[in-house]
Amino acid sequence: MKIIIANDYEQMSLEAANIITDIIKSNPKAVLGLATGSSPIGLYENLIKEYKSGNISFKDIKTINLDEYIGLDGDHPKSYRYFMDDVLFNHVDIDKSNTFIPNGKAQNLEEECTSYERKLDELGGQDVQILGIGTNGHIGFNEPSEELVLYTHVENLQDSTIQANSRFFKSIEEVPTTAISMGIGSIFKAKQIVLVASGPKKAEIMASFQNNNLTPQIPASLLKLHPNVTIIMDKEAGKYYL
Ligand code: GLP
Repeated sequence: MKIIIANDYEQMSLEAANIITDIIKSNPKAVLGLATGSSPIGLYENLIKEYKSGNISFKDIKTINLDEYIGLDGDHPKSYRYFMDDVLFNHVDIDKSNTFIPNGKAQNLEEECTSYERKLDELGGQDVQILGIGTNGHIGFNEPSEELVLYTHVENLQDSTIQANSRFFKSIEEVPTTAISMGIGSIFKAKQIVLVASGPKKAEIMASFQNNNLTPQIPASLLKLHPNVTIIMDKEAGKYYL
């Protein structure tokens, strides 16, 4: 596991974007595993800059996202489909039919999970998976639990996650309580993983990467098992490393 402490959010975003840019340059048909949340927004802004400067193209890139809220369709401004269109897809030359996000309005959620995992396999897995992290250690929407689910599944969101994500909604009652999420095994299909974390609220959870413990109570701790993980934090999230 490689750990990089950046000075601030801007430098963190640039370091992460440089990794993704290099992957796209060496493989213009790369499969990018994408994440939502505020942490990767700066990373996406840098990718848009690289595209606008003519350094990279998304023409043949395929993307697959970690998760989606159940009950929100892609037109809903708080859905992760809408978010991805807004922060990345609408600003680059990607073919949207090559961008995959679970359907939060699927009639048959079990079938949606199975077919999403199959889609990930058909794509050959992610060349790189971008991750953020919840303050409780969740990755995607894999919440702390006695048992984690290996592949794409329906997840009940914890109160702390609903509370944390309520800042994106008008009121806490509007936050969906369930989501479709890739499992830890789906995330591990990635050849490389890049996790970004910023701000003081992430300092405690990021400190847990310093020990050698694995626990489903901190889903992100399982990343210690993956052979190619880069964690990039700003100084506030990485304060226990300084
Ligand atoms: C959500 C997403 C996660 C993300 C987390 C942290 O719960 N499902 O993928 O990592 O939020 O978000 P933020 O980066 O805004 O702190």
